[in-house]
Amino acid sequence: MADANLEDLPGVGAKTAEKLKDAGYDTLMSIATMSAADLSEVADLGSKTANKIIIAARKELDLGFQTGSDKLEERKSMAKISLSSENFNDLLDGGVETQSITEFYGEFGSAKTQCALQLAVNCQLPEEDGGLDKGVVFIDTEDTFIPERVEQMAEGAGLDPEEVLDNIFVARAYNSDHQILLAEKAQDIIKKNDIGLIVVDSLTAQFRSDYVGRGQLAERQQKLNKHMHTLQRLANTFNTAVVVTNQVMSNPGQLFGDPTSAIGGHIVGHASAFRIYLRKSKKDKRIARLVDCPYLPEGEAVFRVTENGLEDA
Ligand SMILES: Nc1ncnc2c1ncn2[C@@H]1O[C@H](COP(=O)(O)OP(=O)(O)O)[C@@H](O)[C@H]1O
Ligand SMILES: [Mg+2]
Repeated sequence: MADANLEDLPGVGAKTAEKLKDAGYDTLMSIATMSAADLSEVADLGSKTANKIIIAARKELDLGFQTGSDKLEERKSMAKISLSSENFNDLLDGGVETQSITEFYGEFGSAKTQCALQLAVNCQLPEEDGGLDKGVVFIDTEDTFIPERVEQMAEGAGLDPEEVLDNIFVARAYNSDHQILLAEKAQDIIKKNDIGLIVVDSLTAQFRSDYVGRGQLAERQQKLNKHMHTLQRLANTFNTAVVVTNQVMSNPGQLFGDPTSAIGGHIVGHASAFRIYLRKSKKDKRIARLVDCPYLPEGEAVFRVTENGLEDA
């Protein structure tokens, strides 16, 4: 896709282009897929102008139209991976979807990694048991991919632990640029192997330590945005599920509700079709809440983390 400059869009002057780039919207695609409300907020524009710019970006990219039946065909190839808990699966109307990014966020110990590992195991189950019968690419940024834990979960799921580990391609990311590169390189592995799931655990930890001061926030968001686009493209192109985990930071400005919000703000939130907020409950219980899903009701599910993996509470 030829990337024309943002400045070529009618209504986008050098100043606006700069603001957009600072906020991480540096490609026509990122503009074309924004909402007018977001664009007018980010670039300080009237909603009419924002709308005009978005339409121009779409035209430039020739995004074109799909018929309803094309769309249906695309959705038909969409599949779901079970989370091993009926409650949790019900919350997500069956499980974690392919062709989309699903974000698990929560504080330390809330079971983000346990969910990611469980999905890496369950992706390998036969379809009738809630799997895709496919392998996994796992980008590990915190060194928390523990093979022994995967073996336990594989046994819990009735799979051969050795085979399960053989079908997970793990890469340790040492910094955020390395992480971005690994996601771009994942394409080669996905092409050669039958991959149904890509995990990035944690999506934001490396970015958080690589871009500290406030002055680096814009650059961090820009890189994160690009990274999310890479992941979404892989999800669409190869019909894979993408699962990312994200930490929360305390937000003292928020007086009501849960005073925590996910790292990466709008960039990560908008790129994820499904956002699941995990929090601790008594003992091994965890509560998952589906947040801001465009077509599923908000709700909560209680599950447990046991030696076998996730289970209903
Ligand atoms: N083998 C196991 N058996 C039972 N529970 C486990 C096991 N391994 C991890 N856990 C549970 O998972 C929790 C850690 O969750 P984790 O996914 O690492 O959190 P996060 O990634 O959100 O920081 C532990 O506190 C423990 O309760
Ligand atoms: Mg973790």
